[in-house]
Amino acid sequence: MLKTAKQFLEEADPEISGVCGRERARQEEGIELIASENVVHPAVLAAAGSVLTNKYAEGYPGARYYGGCEVVDEAETLAVARAKALFGCEHANVQPHSGSQANMAVYLAALKPGDSVLAMNLSHGGHLTHGASVNFSGSLYRFVHYGVRREDGVLDMEDVARKAAESRPKLIVCGASAYPREIDARAFRAVADSVGAMLMFDIAHIAGLVAAKLHKDPVPWCDFVTTTTHKTLRGPRGGMIMCRGEHAKAIDKAVFPGVQGGPLMHVIAAKAVAFKLALQPSFVEYQRRVVANAAALAHGLITRGFDLVAGGTDNHMMLIDLRNKGLTGRALEQALGRAGITVNKNAVPFDTEKPTVTSGVRIGTPAVTTRGFGLSEMEQIAEWIGQVAEHVDDDGVTSSIRASVKALCSRYPLYADME
Ligand SMILES: Cc1ncc(COP(=O)(O)O)c(C=O)c1O
Repeated sequence: MLKTAKQFLEEADPEISGVCGRERARQEEGIELIASENVVHPAVLAAAGSVLTNKYAEGYPGARYYGGCEVVDEAETLAVARAKALFGCEHANVQPHSGSQANMAVYLAALKPGDSVLAMNLSHGGHLTHGASVNFSGSLYRFVHYGVRREDGVLDMEDVARKAAESRPKLIVCGASAYPREIDARAFRAVADSVGAMLMFDIAHIAGLVAAKLHKDPVPWCDFVTTTTHKTLRGPRGGMIMCRGEHAKAIDKAVFPGVQGGPLMHVIAAKAVAFKLALQPSFVEYQRRVVANAAALAHGLITRGFDLVAGGTDNHMMLIDLRNKGLTGRALEQALGRAGITVNKNAVPFDTEKPTVTSGVRIGTPAVTTRGFGLSEMEQIAEWIGQVAEHVDDDGVTSSIRASVKALCSRYPLYADME
């Protein structure tokens, strides 16, 4: 009798098999509001768990350093063609193992150690790889940071232009991990042109919205566009770089052999699957629902007295500033966790709390939208978040909400048809 991959795992390693089963149950039974997470299609799981994991393929399709690459070459060629169709870019490199490595490769291609770069402050919503002192980017390059305006939490383009004029960066980076408003690549291009800088947009969070044309298209304005493939784009964990044709060679060289060795061919195949799914009209419809759900959830939170950074959201995420509630991000994250609702604590602009505590939580709708939640569920979630915030130390409240969360989730199974 043939056995399934799952049966092999149960027999070979009951502990890890148990972990996989319990994690699946956790995902099925809880409300996932982490803005950077999603729930991939079973076809993406199948490709990521396929025998392509066995193959070494240093190099690029048609020019590998290993034999036997003729089949995996097809997967990478498909992934690249689909990425180009999805984003309308001149060149795509689908090998970066992660968003961080995509960014690292652009820096390697575009900069020399010590060069000056202008990017968004981590504490205002930027990413670690945008020059945080604890990250390789902050130690290898001279980053200067812009931020949001204190009065309204919105990106301060005057600050960007002033700092660009002062620091004369070689590269300007835009894009964020925690910024709920639209980012205008064209405005950044104007600043970059005024100082002769190159422009990179890290669309890791909003890639799905960009692909669905629900966010202003950054591709025509940028030298480089980097992304993760696992957030709104709903693919496997990984990264990707898109660039103008003139930078193609430098980017490919920077990814391999610059910062990586062998590509993860199983993940590249899974990226190809995800891009194919993202090219379907249903993906655009999904992204519309992600944005509509985020707007509804933001509205529900605001009507319950929550203060949202920048006053709301244009995309898939929002940031609650908890200072008016007398709560820390850590306290609310933990209490919501007890209620079966997963969020992450997140610094808000001009936060005075430590990064391990913070004054905010970040909330996103990609995963709950994939599971089928709509506007009425957003209203229900806002109500639960409001109740938990009022009763962070009341286990009776959190456990009763947890039971209701589980009941709601059971009506929207994640992998109903999958073994
Ligand atoms: C804007 C941005 N860039 C890059 C990354 C890095 O991605 P990864 O975690 O895959 O390295 C993230 C991840 O959160 C991100 O939000």
